Amino acid sequence: MTKLSVNINKIATIRNARGGNIPNVVEAAINCERFGADGITIHPRPDERHITYNDVRQIAPIVTTEFNIEGYPSKSFIELVLSVKPHQVTLVPDAPDAITSNAGWDTLTHQSFLSSIISDFKGAGIRTSLFVEAKSKYIEGAKTIQTDRIELYTESYAQYYAIVKEKAVKPFVESAILAKELGLGINAGHDLNLDNLKYFSSSVPYLEEVSIGHALISDALYLGLEKTIKSYKNCLKK
Ligand code: PXP
Repeated sequence: MTKLSVNINKIATIRNARGGNIPNVVEAAINCERFGADGITIHPRPDERHITYNDVRQIAPIVTTEFNIEGYPSKSFIELVLSVKPHQVTLVPDAPDAITSNAGWDTLTHQSFLSSIISDFKGAGIRTSLFVEAKSKYIEGAKTIQTDRIELYTESYAQYYAIVKEKAVKPFVESAILAKELGLGINAGHDLNLDNLKYFSSSVPYLEEVSIGHALISDALYLGLEKTIKSYKNCLKK
């Protein structure tokens, strides 16, 4: 079954709005796992406006499922990831001031930059993933970089799902088939939610993991975290 990694950035956003430590992100990570999450994702940004570098160090030792750190591979990000050694690092090409990740890697232009970073992470025993659009040239580029996995950037799927879902999912199905042929593992994320996840997960083959934050934490305001996580997990059942 496809794993659900819960992105807990938004918990930190709420905490930071007031200062102090409510809600507590470490407690949130523990509870997400208790309620059935298969992994915890965090995305420390350079301005630490939600997850801070200190949060990363505190969350790392308590995750008992799978710990995924995503972000732009700046010098300080690379040092942080190498020091806490998560199970997986997902590299994202976001600018420091991006509100959220808004593009996948151009794996052709940035091939040599990414190859050496990926090699360092793999050398440290950390599984690597590259955030890419569902386009064959970027997936083929990801293969030459020797990443373990790709994470398909699903914003376009989410956008077009409401209009023509068959058309919206097609590039993702084709990308997953290509990635599998190339020997790459397949993750996906961005703008997945309780409406569009089930169709995505039942249409796209070989999907190993989805990481979901914004919609899931928002749903939890109404449903509670436990019921919400269970509902997302239900969408992933085959
Ligand atoms: N994957 C990546 C690489 C991301 O940057 C994000 C957002 O932080 C997500 C997945 C999750 O997206 P969402 O918050 O829309 O579920």
